[in-house]
Amino acid sequence: MNETWIILGASSAMARAFARDMATQGDALLLCGRDTADLERDAADMALRGAAPARVFAFDTRDPESFMPILEAGRASKGVLNVAVFAGSMPEQADIDADPSLVAGVVTDNFTAAAAFLMAIAPEMEARGAGVVVGIGSVAGDRGRLGNYVYGAAKAGFHTFLSGFRNRMGRSGVQVLTVKPGFVDTSMTWGLEGMFLVASPSDVAADIRRAIKKRRNVIYTPWFWIGIMTIIRTIPERIFKKLQI
Ligand SMILES: NC(=O)c1ccc[n+]([C@@H]2O[C@H](COP(=O)([O-])OP(=O)(O)OC[C@H]3O[C@@H](n4cnc5c(N)ncnc54)[C@H](OP(=O)(O)O)[C@@H]3O)[C@@H](O)[C@H]2O)c1
Repeated sequence: MNETWIILGASSAMARAFARDMATQGDALLLCGRDTADLERDAADMALRGAAPARVFAFDTRDPESFMPILEAGRASKGVLNVAVFAGSMPEQADIDADPSLVAGVVTDNFTAAAAFLMAIAPEMEARGAGVVVGIGSVAGDRGRLGNYVYGAAKAGFHTFLSGFRNRMGRSGVQVLTVKPGFVDTSMTWGLEGMFLVASPSDVAADIRRAIKKRRNVIYTPWFWIGIMTIIRTIPERIFKKLQI
């Protein structure tokens, strides 16, 4: 059966790879982001390749009014309704240290906007008794690090939200998948130093596809990050606080 995907942050390289996969299998797309002209080009490109129709919506995490037309379109869709949240931002930690007023925006972009949107669409998904929610968190949310502790804290908040949301939505047959990527080659990480084992956006999209099929709850992508983060989480705080990671 064909399905509809609301994709928040559809201009992300990971989102584009995922959206192409879903369109190829015949699902309808609601591509939501700030640069609608860019997303219209994506939609046209997918249509040329014979994919199902994609519609474009303006979406800004910091403007809750922009959520309304997307919510309406989601409610008006037929069949199974799914949501994937790729939107997020990661300013340099040094910039946030210099200007703490940036904290609220980071928390909005990576956590609270998605939480508010998902809670607004939840009753519709519950009523349909099916569907998938994909939330992109980060390994950064597993432990607060010197280099990105505000971003990591926002992702940790999103992980915790998704855990409780999974408990709620699972009762209606809706799968909630938390995705924790390691380093991925996208515009967010362009030029960052110290990256290793960098994955491609299409690898991440393939992992998400597999996890949906297997009805997984939480995945690390690529898979080996589960081992790396298990080690990082077990380092005693008295040592961890002195590390430069
Ligand atoms: N790259 C990595 O190594 C990595 C690792 C772990 C987790 N992640 C997470 O993966 C997700 C996708 O990121 P990415 O790596 O693909 O980077 P990206 O290309 O920078 O994607 C971030 C997305 O968030 C959108 N966004 C940012 N601020 C927004 C706002 N105020 N309103 C609406 N949309 C906004 C961006 O839209 P614009 O195009 O309009 O800026 C873009 O679509 C993010 O949640 C990120 O935190 C990335």
